[in-house]
Amino acid sequence: MRFSNIIAFGLFGANSALGLAILPREIAEIESVANATAKGIDVFGPIPDDAVKAHEGFYTAEEGTDAWAWIRAQIDIPAHARPATEKRQNYANIGIGMFAQDWCNGQAGWWDDVTYDVQHYVTLNMFSVGISYRGLRSNEQLDFSRQAGSDWCGKYLYSAGKNTPIGCFNSQAINCYRLTLH
Ligand SMILES: *[C@@H]1O[C@H](CO)[C@@H](O)[C@H](O)[C@H]1NC(C)=O
Repeated sequence: MRFSNIIAFGLFGANSALGLAILPREIAEIESVANATAKGIDVFGPIPDDAVKAHEGFYTAEEGTDAWAWIRAQIDIPAHARPATEKRQNYANIGIGMFAQDWCNGQAGWWDDVTYDVQHYVTLNMFSVGISYRGLRSNEQLDFSRQAGSDWCGKYLYSAGKNTPIGCFNSQAINCYRLTLH
């Protein structure tokens, strides 16, 4: 019994290796994708189970978890590299994360599909922002704010540049963002 278990496990390993080989080299070589893949995470699959789901579409993740590795990879995958079947066609079709440290490191808050006109906030000072799935459109405005009094979005700080592409950028301390369509 034990032996057959080992064989089954070995076969599973071989399948995984084949699965990984399907990732185009361009994607497989991205550091965050390589890190996630090494943990056995399918970066084109759903967010891993160890994500802490705050409410529908909003997750938090600690560095070192599978969910964190998955989130980090989403920010680095170029839009054109996503298989057509994996492209998110619903809702605003954009993923936005805020991170507690520079360059999208540290504790993460991740919105898998951002809703327009809603103040999205975390009760922690965040210092970088990652945009995934697609860049901002010319008719979209992404505003950042921080806490003022009891309002986590009370003080408007700045807006992201027009057509900000996919990827990570550092920020002054923020707690909150809102995406608006003009
Ligand atoms: C990938 O993993 C290495 C080793 O743990 C780490 O030093 C590096 O920061 C990770 N890269 C990203 C983009 O998360």
